[in-house]
Amino acid sequence: MKNELIQAFKELYGAEGEIRAYFAPGRVNLIGEHTDYNGGHVFPCALTIGTFGIARKREDRKIRLFSKNFPKAGIVETSLDDLVPSEKAGWTNYPKGVMWAFEGRGYKLPCGLDILIYGNIPNGSGLSSSASLEVLTGTMLRDMFGFDDLTMIDLAQIGQYSENNFNGMNCGIMDQFASAMGKKDHAIFLDTSDLSFEYANIKLDDAKIVITNSKVKHSLVSSAYNDRRNECETALSELQKAVDIKALGELTEEEYEEHKDAIHSEIRQKRAKHAVYENQRTIKAVAALKNDDIELFGKLMNASHVSLRDDYEVSCEEIDILVDLAWNIPGVVGSRITGGGFGGCTVSIVKNDAVDTFIETVGTEYEKRVGHKAEFYVVEIGDGARVLN
Ligand code: GLA
Repeated sequence: MKNELIQAFKELYGAEGEIRAYFAPGRVNLIGEHTDYNGGHVFPCALTIGTFGIARKREDRKIRLFSKNFPKAGIVETSLDDLVPSEKAGWTNYPKGVMWAFEGRGYKLPCGLDILIYGNIPNGSGLSSSASLEVLTGTMLRDMFGFDDLTMIDLAQIGQYSENNFNGMNCGIMDQFASAMGKKDHAIFLDTSDLSFEYANIKLDDAKIVITNSKVKHSLVSSAYNDRRNECETALSELQKAVDIKALGELTEEEYEEHKDAIHSEIRQKRAKHAVYENQRTIKAVAALKNDDIELFGKLMNASHVSLRDDYEVSCEEIDILVDLAWNIPGVVGSRITGGGFGGCTVSIVKNDAVDTFIETVGTEYEKRVGHKAEFYVVEIGDGARVLN
């Protein structure tokens, strides 16, 4: 892939000078959804698919960007003196946002760049193509300009900062963290309250992680996402009148039940309940995995889905169909929606000898009921972002 992209870069921009190559993965979250902006735990892993970038320094302050995924947009030209978001900038708002965030942190970019991008994460699938593009850009800028004091966690935070403040999506840290810090064959048990984390070996000897792409993406995803986040923040400030906490993630289920009446709306109670219970489920799920209790892990995944569907209300009909179908197949250990919601993908743990039946049955039934095909990916867990040279 790398050599092919370098070749494409040369054809587009010319062959001279030092050309460097980078990769940042997408992610799938196993459990711990909508907990990362509530000071809770998440359990994502990096995928082997993601976003590639090829770059070369320029002598002036121009930035030229081309994506093989959006060839019709052509070469988009901008400048380090014009790092402002705009609707017509389309996909280039992500790399531009990261450049803007570097400069805002005092990492002035000394010259412009020619950049070619290619991503193999299915579009709009909720597997973090945008976070991978942000982390890719950070990895590129750090390497190109020798900002060696920046850690991979810094790059994750810069990516999140740019997404929040340049692109207007108030996401948490999970996606960028997973893309930056991923480790082959491991999921990351991350405490978002202080960014402490540990890697957990996903040694599923007799099962596979299967992602099912519903191929639907409902509109207003980022505004609905921001609404959920606001509801949680309001619920927190109501709870703070009754109990001394800084984040919903500090509460146990019992503490939540004891104080929930401080929240003066039924909707916000449901949102906060999800945030609290999902965080506890994530802690329990990782403990179950350590005890080799994959059955319990699967049950907690299923409970996570129910909570996201009924209390957090971020699922949708198509995703619920996928999950219901999965739950009815013998050999499916657990299945749930993954990522931000309102479409996108489910993640399932499926016993090895049931994978074919799973794909066949879910695939056929889904198409019958929804009218289009789902896509299936049997996942490999990969490493985090890196320089490819
Ligand atoms: C999106 C956001 C993440 C996280 C998930 C839900 O992927 O980018 O920060 O909040 O949704 O768990």
